[in-house]
Amino acid sequence: MSTTELNDIEFSDPRLVALYDTLNPFGDDSEFFCQQAEKLSAKTIIDLGCGTGLLTCELAKRGYQMTGIEPSDAMLAVARSKPHSGQVTWIKGSFEQMEGLQADMILMTSHVAQFFFEESEWQGMLRAAHQALKPGGYLVFDIRRLTVPPFIGWPTEDNRRRFEDTAAGSVEWWFNLLQVKGERVRYELHYFFVRSGEKMVSTNELTFRSQEEIVRALSEADFKIETVYGDWDGSLVTPTSSEMIFVAKK
Ligand SMILES: C[S@@+](CC[C@H](N)C(=O)[O-])C[C@H]1O[C@@H](n2cnc3c(N)ncnc32)[C@H](O)[C@@H]1O
Repeated sequence: MSTTELNDIEFSDPRLVALYDTLNPFGDDSEFFCQQAEKLSAKTIIDLGCGTGLLTCELAKRGYQMTGIEPSDAMLAVARSKPHSGQVTWIKGSFEQMEGLQADMILMTSHVAQFFFEESEWQGMLRAAHQALKPGGYLVFDIRRLTVPPFIGWPTEDNRRRFEDTAAGSVEWWFNLLQVKGERVRYELHYFFVRSGEKMVSTNELTFRSQEEIVRALSEADFKIETVYGDWDGSLVTPTSSEMIFVAKK
C-alpha cells in the first residue's frame, strides 16, 4: 500500500466540503437517479452515503419520502442546510444504520459503493440493503470501471481545473495518481486557493470491483439484477462503458 496516509478530507474538512457541490453539481447522473425513482415507482428511498444531500433534497422536493445516511458530520451539516432538508430524515453512519428501516429503493450515488473496501463490509452492506428493502424493492448504484491508467481525462497538475466558488473565490483543482494495487486505487486531490495561497490535499482510495464480481455478490445477497446501464443516457453497459449502473431487485 502507498505510504501516503489516507485522510479523505474531501469529505471531512469543512473548507473542502464547502466546495463539493461546486465541483459536483446536479448533473446527468443525478437526473438519471431521479428518473429511476419515478420509473421504479419508489415512494420511500434511502440515500446511503448521501454526502451533501444534493440529490436527497431534490428527491424530497419531488415528493419522495427520503432518508439520508452519511458518516461525515461536515457533509451532513451542508445537507441539513439545504432547501427541503426538513423533509428528510438524516442519519449519521453507514449501512448498519439501515437496520429496522424499510424502503422501496436504496441509492448509492457518485460511486459510494466503491468505498466498501473489505469483503466483509461490502457483503454486509448488501445484506443490510436486502433487509431494508420491501419485497420487490430496488438497490441502485453506480461503479466506475477500472481503466488503465485510472481516471483518464481528469485534470492534472499541468492541466488544472480552475473554478469559482462564491465564498472561497478562485480554486485550482487537480488529481495525482499514487498507486494502483489490484482493484484498489489510491490518489490525491489537490486544491489551491488562489486568493489565500493555501494548498490542501485529500488522499483518497477507491476499490474497483469488476462487473462479474458485482453480479456474483448481488446474486449471493439474493438480489436479481434487473438492468446494468453503462451511461446516464440510459444505454446498456458494454465492455468499454466507463460506468456500470446496477439496478438490482429484492
Ligand atoms: C463521492 S461522495 C458521494 C456523495 C453523494 N452520494 C453524491 O451523489 O454526491 C461519497 C460519499 O460516501 C461517503 N462514504 C464513504 N464511506 C462510506 C461508507 N462506508 N458508508 C456510507 N457512506 C460512505 C462519503 O463520506 C461521501 O459523502
